[in-house]
Amino acid sequence: MKKIFAANWKLNKTPRETEAFFVEWKSKAGDLNSSEIVFFPPATSFDSMAQSLSGSSMKWGAQNCYSEVQGAFTGEISAKTVKAMGGHYVLLGHSERRSIFHENDILISKKVATVQKEELIPMLCIGESLSERETGNTMYILKSQLEAGLSHADPRKPLAVAYEPVWAIGTGKVANPDQIRDAHREINHLIQGFGFPGTTPILYGGSVKADNAKELISIPHVDGFLVGGASLEVSSFLQICKANL
Ligand code: PGA
Repeated sequence: MKKIFAANWKLNKTPRETEAFFVEWKSKAGDLNSSEIVFFPPATSFDSMAQSLSGSSMKWGAQNCYSEVQGAFTGEISAKTVKAMGGHYVLLGHSERRSIFHENDILISKKVATVQKEELIPMLCIGESLSERETGNTMYILKSQLEAGLSHADPRKPLAVAYEPVWAIGTGKVANPDQIRDAHREINHLIQGFGFPGTTPILYGGSVKADNAKELISIPHVDGFLVGGASLEVSSFLQICKANL
């Protein structure tokens, strides 16, 4: 199975900056066809992303979408539009969506179902906070977020999961290899219990950088990375995308 290297650009880059990124990328990347490379730009750059990636095997997706595909929902993004523009994935339940925008598991589960219905792949983000880890509740949190997030999902349709410990996101603190191995093994076990295939990719996210990517990609059940800060520069994200070569 191809490793997945995904760039979560969050609220960064204008359409022009997106185009400039890919001009540089094309001059430096070389052959990355043995991996799946995915970009999550802000919605304002979907169009320049689609144009920049046309003719390449790289994919893109949305960082969020609404649970309905059309109607009176001012300010929201439709999975139908993402699909129509050539997107492949939608990131759902990112910890910033959960904490800053107060998204709960019920809403996230509806979004997962909608994204699957539109024939896009939901990349469901789950992960424990520092206090949940320190009180020994990590596995309980992973189970409850998965169980709730997947409650309306179709196990016959594609899914990806991103394990992102909240305390490791944007902090420079990476979970240690044992913590990552244990969490990914548990997630793999749990999703099979919910009827999803054991081959469902599980990405790690949280302060992945060029200098730790090689070590982390060799951990069992780490099928790729979801990268924030280090995906904004061509050189650092390229090094991460080559971690398994
Ligand atoms: P980070 O972000 O790589 O900057 O820690 C990861 C994420 O939020 O997906």
